[in-house]
Amino acid sequence: MENPSDAVVTSAVVEAPVVLEEALPARIIDIAKFEGKRVQLKGWLYNIRSSGKILFLQVRDGSGIIQAVMVKKEVGADLFNLAKGLGQEASVIITGVVRADERSSIGFEMSVDGLELVCNSVDYPISPKEHGTDFLLDHRHLWLRSKRQHAILRIRAEIIRACRNYFDEHGFLLIDSPILTPAACEGTTTLFGTDYFDQKAYLSQSGQLYAEASAMAFGKVYCFGPTFRAEKSRTRRHLMEFWMIEPEMAYIDLDDNMAVQEDFVETVVQTVLKNRMDDLKTLERDTTFLEKVKKPFYRVHYDEAVERIRKKGFEFPWGEDFGADVEAALTEDFDKPFFVHRFPAKVKAFYMKRDPERPELALCSDLLAPEGYGEIIGGSQREDSYDELIGRIREHGLPEEAFSWYLDLRKYGSVPHGGFGLGLERTVAWICGLHHIRETSPFPRLLNRMNP
Ligand code: 4AD
Ligand code: MG
Repeated sequence: MENPSDAVVTSAVVEAPVVLEEALPARIIDIAKFEGKRVQLKGWLYNIRSSGKILFLQVRDGSGIIQAVMVKKEVGADLFNLAKGLGQEASVIITGVVRADERSSIGFEMSVDGLELVCNSVDYPISPKEHGTDFLLDHRHLWLRSKRQHAILRIRAEIIRACRNYFDEHGFLLIDSPILTPAACEGTTTLFGTDYFDQKAYLSQSGQLYAEASAMAFGKVYCFGPTFRAEKSRTRRHLMEFWMIEPEMAYIDLDDNMAVQEDFVETVVQTVLKNRMDDLKTLERDTTFLEKVKKPFYRVHYDEAVERIRKKGFEFPWGEDFGADVEAALTEDFDKPFFVHRFPAKVKAFYMKRDPERPELALCSDLLAPEGYGEIIGGSQREDSYDELIGRIREHGLPEEAFSWYLDLRKYGSVPHGGFGLGLERTVAWICGLHHIRETSPFPRLLNRMNP
């Protein structure tokens, strides 16, 4: 633009040229800081509505959605018509002034004075109408752009942050376990195998065994990574690939282990309530039960759990593990998370220590989330005696060679120890109030689905 002072005055009345303020780069999440300022937003067109000579553009930039109002006589017919013809999810860079607006859900809208089309989007497959789940999962790469998925994945990120912060602030050292492993941790029936040159390798089912070695080195550790189970179960709570946070502690027993879990889970839930209420509202999550997640949690002996299940009409034989239906029924009795402890050892993993008072029971616990969700944590005190442990390895038919390093931990300064694993996606499903686990993972790996 020419310097206005150079303009030749040809008439007594000169209309001052409109000099637009430079647009400040902004993100919608910070928009309140820009009230009255001219900003530039880089994003995508979420939706568009026209009312004659005014266009209402819903623009999202990944951090939020803002209504951007374009008036034909202010921007000219060319730009107006260009905008009017844009498809859902066209990428656009818009400029304009931010104005407070109490009708807006974010408190602000924008008066558009400029729009640059980066790339149009024609016939975007996900429209605001209802789609079937399979269709949405096939289009997961696009489905991630919707409001509901944003809320879930932001809560997931918040939960991850809260988990890490909890252990970092409580003296645990992060020591990640390997993903490629030579042996099974959680039973040989759910292993994903692969070749490791001329050796057989498996994708890790749990980082626990390595966390135990790390705990003997550092006292209190945690690992947090993806874990894999080839579980041929098509249920609402099984993924083939899921993330687990696994703390492990030296010199603790089963009670200490449960005490850490309740403090940890309370902290995670209360942190999400404090920081992500908007997202919980988007999901229409009734937070009454979440607000009650305060320690102490109930501790229910396996024997008592069986009694409760039978009272509910299940013909449940003592000695079995709980299925999803039984767990869901049990949760009706409790208004916050609860432990079921001391399961029969024969349905549990080889590494669990036996209850010295009743050796048929394992010193283990599951933490069950209320409202029908069921198990979110599995934990135990570990077998710390060399002789007992080698006996279990043989009983379970596990390859002794592959466990020789693990047995070493019982030879060189063995101590009582234990830990647990919290399944991230099940926790996200519970906190978000989702019926199915599939939306808790950005790209879920389900039975018979690995795409996209
Ligand atoms: O109870 P699990 O099998 O325990 C372990 O793996 C122990 N080694 C953990 C430890 O003590 N360090 O699994 C722990 C949790 C479950 O409570 C559940 O939340 C989650 O992992 N989980 C799954 N989540 C989604 N899909 C699956 N297929 C899952 N299997 C387990
Ligand atoms: Mg379990």
